[in-house]
Amino acid sequence: MENNSRGAWGSRFGFIMASAGSAIGLGNLWKFPYLAGANGGGAFVLVYLGIVILLGFTMMLGELSIGRATKLNQYGAYKKINPKFGFIGGIGILTGFLILSFYSVVGGWVIKYIFQYIMGGVQQADKMGYFVSFITNPYEPLIWHGLFMAATLFIVLGGVSGGIEKASKIMMPLLFLFLIIIAIRSLTLPGAMEGLKYFLIPNWSKFNLDVLVKAMGQVFFSLSLGMGTLVTYGSYLEGHEDLPSNALTIPALDTLAALLAGIAIMPAVFAFNQEPGAGPGLMFGTLPNIFASMPLGNLFGLMFFVLVFFAAVTSAISLLEVPVSWAMDSLKWSRTKAVWIFAGLCFVIGIGASLSNGPWEQKFYFFSKDGQNFFDVLDYLTSNILLPLGGVFMSLFITFVWGYDNAFKEIKIGSKNNFAIGGFWKMSMMVGVPLMMALVFLQQTGVLAKLIGQ
Ligand code: TRP
Repeated sequence: MENNSRGAWGSRFGFIMASAGSAIGLGNLWKFPYLAGANGGGAFVLVYLGIVILLGFTMMLGELSIGRATKLNQYGAYKKINPKFGFIGGIGILTGFLILSFYSVVGGWVIKYIFQYIMGGVQQADKMGYFVSFITNPYEPLIWHGLFMAATLFIVLGGVSGGIEKASKIMMPLLFLFLIIIAIRSLTLPGAMEGLKYFLIPNWSKFNLDVLVKAMGQVFFSLSLGMGTLVTYGSYLEGHEDLPSNALTIPALDTLAALLAGIAIMPAVFAFNQEPGAGPGLMFGTLPNIFASMPLGNLFGLMFFVLVFFAAVTSAISLLEVPVSWAMDSLKWSRTKAVWIFAGLCFVIGIGASLSNGPWEQKFYFFSKDGQNFFDVLDYLTSNILLPLGGVFMSLFITFVWGYDNAFKEIKIGSKNNFAIGGFWKMSMMVGVPLMMALVFLQQTGVLAKLIGQ
């Protein structure tokens, strides 16, 4: 078998678990609830769902088909279809790099909280204060960040079916099980209904262009779109998989997990009179208050952070796999060498991200005049600019370079029912994508105006 050395998925179930594992991560459990909480609750959720339906499936099918058609990494795939367009893949690989660097810092916080709950929970009365003093500490978060990166490295060293697929097949079903248990617990708290209403009934008063672009960025981030994760995962597929049905299943699972996360968190936030708009501290500063006042709270706290860890690590491995797969295909590096080098580099950039929450805060102010630190800039730049840009490039590439005829030829392999989907797909690419580009452009010029003080 020609592709044996690249690796391939062992089963359809394994592929779906690995892809869902990539999609479901800190984006769903940490970011989605706090973004929804801070941007109008149900209104954000509704807009988010609309974008998933209009663009999520389209983009995912696009990435999977490019990957499977070429059986190459993100860079090699674009280059193989047209030698002039390798740069699209290159941007994606860089983006993934930047994401993993701050992602692993947050992953480290999650491991720290697992240990904290094993030791009996967060004792300090001011839980938000505890969180802030932890992340601003110069040394401690770095240790946990290193630990998280080591776990990621270890799994990716195991390869496609032996590492990534195996870990995902165990972690993902457990994640859903824990998430459902915690959602039920949260919904049965006295006063939970207020939170459910906040999460599901739209309040449009906070809605504006910024919120729309944030929702779009969140769709990309949450579905792992726009940087070639799914090109890479698609390249490990054998010919007979039904791509459209996979491109529906993965976003459906991802959205289910995001909604469950909101249902697990918002009702509890309201039941215990916490602030839904707490921002990034919602998971680490607000939730511990709830666990502390709940019967068996430490057990639920432990279960919660273990599930977040599973989600985070199955996503981090997909981020690391993108450059690793490129180095193996293009530079002919061994997996071991590629994994160590890229994980090491991300660890180093992550040090900057972590320190920018504390002692290096001022150092990185030149990146932004709004007082966002390096950590915030990495998050903002990747989610709201680079990922949508990657998506736009991919669509333009499919429309004008690869061509729909070639794309459809690939999509039809292994798929029985692609007629209706094909029409929608083309429409969404040709209408949805330019619209998206216009929106990002509009919003960015607004942000730009603010930055230069207009
Ligand atoms: N989707 C993951 C999450 O929700 C993060 C992630 C993994 C990602 N691979 C990606 C985001 C590729 C963007 C692109 O946490």
